[in-house]
Amino acid sequence: MFPESPLLAIDGLVKRFGGFRALDGLSFYLREGEILGVVGPNGSGKTTCINVISGLHAPDGGSVTFAGRAIGGLKSHQLVRLGINRTFQVPRPFMSLTVRENVAVAEAYGGKPQERVDIGALLASLELAPLAGRRAEELNSAQQKMLDLARALATSPRLVLIDELAAGLNPAELERVAARLKEIARSGVALLVVEHLMGFIQEITDRVIVLNAGKEIFEGVMDDAIRDKRVVEVFLGAEDEG
Ligand SMILES: Nc1ncnc2c1ncn2[C@@H]1O[C@H](COP(=O)(O)OP(=O)(O)OP(=O)(O)O)[C@@H](O)[C@H]1O
Ligand SMILES: [Mg+2]
Repeated sequence: MFPESPLLAIDGLVKRFGGFRALDGLSFYLREGEILGVVGPNGSGKTTCINVISGLHAPDGGSVTFAGRAIGGLKSHQLVRLGINRTFQVPRPFMSLTVRENVAVAEAYGGKPQERVDIGALLASLELAPLAGRRAEELNSAQQKMLDLARALATSPRLVLIDELAAGLNPAELERVAARLKEIARSGVALLVVEHLMGFIQEITDRVIVLNAGKEIFEGVMDDAIRDKRVVEVFLGAEDEG
């Protein structure tokens, strides 16, 4: 059952690639200020889910409702204006622009004119201030992921879809990123966090959903997920293959 008026409601979402259903009737919701973890084995549809909600791919079935409005099939730039932004599993910043310029471009094209963002403060909050004048191509992959998050936050989003931000961070960095994400959520922004690092997911999320083959097989808190028979089977099965 969905709560009365969630910020995001996904109902029966289908995404096909040829005859293959990467999303096969996926349903879930997300409240304002909530951190929802989305976990599942490789290929279970996590990135596809973000790609459809963020407008990179149009859905082939089902509905996506954001703040009470049907948004399925809208383009990314339209969704950014409505308050949905995302990070990428493999970030693609403008490599020859500096960190600050990358964020300024995002703010200029996706931000809200009435809500100017303090880019210096934003960079500082993500530990990018010392790198502000560096070109994106000089950053390591973990730093590029933080730049990608800064780019998304520069557009004053209400919902950020985060695809494997934690990969490549050391434990101290992980802890700081976790604290920062929780702060962002406390300010009212909803976060959908796709991550393979279960400790990180456990620390930051209010709730998780587990995907397998484009369907939800579990919804609840992480403590219950790790005891759920279907979830355990899916993850042990995935380990056997690897
Ligand atoms: N553009 C595409 N064209 C064809 N097939 C695709 C496309 N994007 C994803 N798929 C397929 O859809 C399925 C789900 O992929 P997706 O990238 O959503 O998985 P994921 O859960 O994010 O996996 P991972 O944990 O490895 O990132 C996979 O079988 C993938 O090969
Ligand atoms: Mg993925």
